[in-house]
Amino acid sequence: MERLNTGIADLDGMIGGGFPHSRTMMLTGTTGSGKTILGLHFLHQSCVDGKKCAMIATEENPEDLMEQAASLGMPLSKYHKQESLIIDRVYDERTEYMKDILDFGVSEIDELQSNIVGLLDRIPKKAEVVLIDNIGVFTLNMSPNEFRAQFDTLIHGMAKRNVTAVVVMDSASDERMGGIAAYSVYGVMKTQMKENPYTGSRERVLDILKIRNTKIPNDPLRFEITSNGIVILKQQ
Ligand SMILES: Nc1ncnc2c1ncn2[C@@H]1O[C@H](COP(=O)(O)OP(=O)(O)OP(=O)(O)O)[C@@H](O)[C@H]1O
Ligand SMILES: [Mg+2]
Repeated sequence: MERLNTGIADLDGMIGGGFPHSRTMMLTGTTGSGKTILGLHFLHQSCVDGKKCAMIATEENPEDLMEQAASLGMPLSKYHKQESLIIDRVYDERTEYMKDILDFGVSEIDELQSNIVGLLDRIPKKAEVVLIDNIGVFTLNMSPNEFRAQFDTLIHGMAKRNVTAVVVMDSASDERMGGIAAYSVYGVMKTQMKENPYTGSRERVLDILKIRNTKIPNDPLRFEITSNGIVILKQQ
């Protein structure tokens, strides 16, 4: 099976070379644990490798994301300028829409707020690599059944187009949906901050829960976020 490098060489070495081609990986985790940064590594690496990339960002605007990536040694703006990286402004639309709701007192949640399948139309035709961060925002008004049906359709649609995807879903939304998202995707990784019982200090860990067709580490990987982004620490 063809693999795409994750942008973190040490991680690639532990998961058979990278993320499986034409499949969807899910990235879950608590707030501030490193989901977006992990996703940015993959996006940047894919840009470097000459892939046509797209990001659907629901929580941050493209400028902030590119600034964050640059501060971690991943200059994305170059690819954005030459249009090999497209960043969708769904964040702006969501916030503008909420402003209209508040201004005019409309109470329904519209299409944009609960249309996961519609994301397929927002992925540029030529995209080979897609990062969606964070799909959780579309689930606020959804039942687990509705979510599963829409999420499966999105994943199937991307696979049919040979897109290799990383979908971020925050832990709170994942739990609200009963954890079913993990069954739809090819692989699941979870980032967390955990207290080390020996030192009492908090550490970041990356737990690889599954990648079909791939040997994965049994134990969570400790990591740090440095000026070069995510660095996997030597395992004890
Ligand atoms: N340049 C940097 N150097 C060191 N650590 C950094 C740097 N930039 C960000 N971080 C750390 O990364 C964390 C955020 O990581 P990230 O945005 O990937 O988390 P997340 O899981 O996506 O969070 P959210 O819930 O906001 O989406 C910050 O809280 C900060 O501790
Ligand atoms: Mg994030």
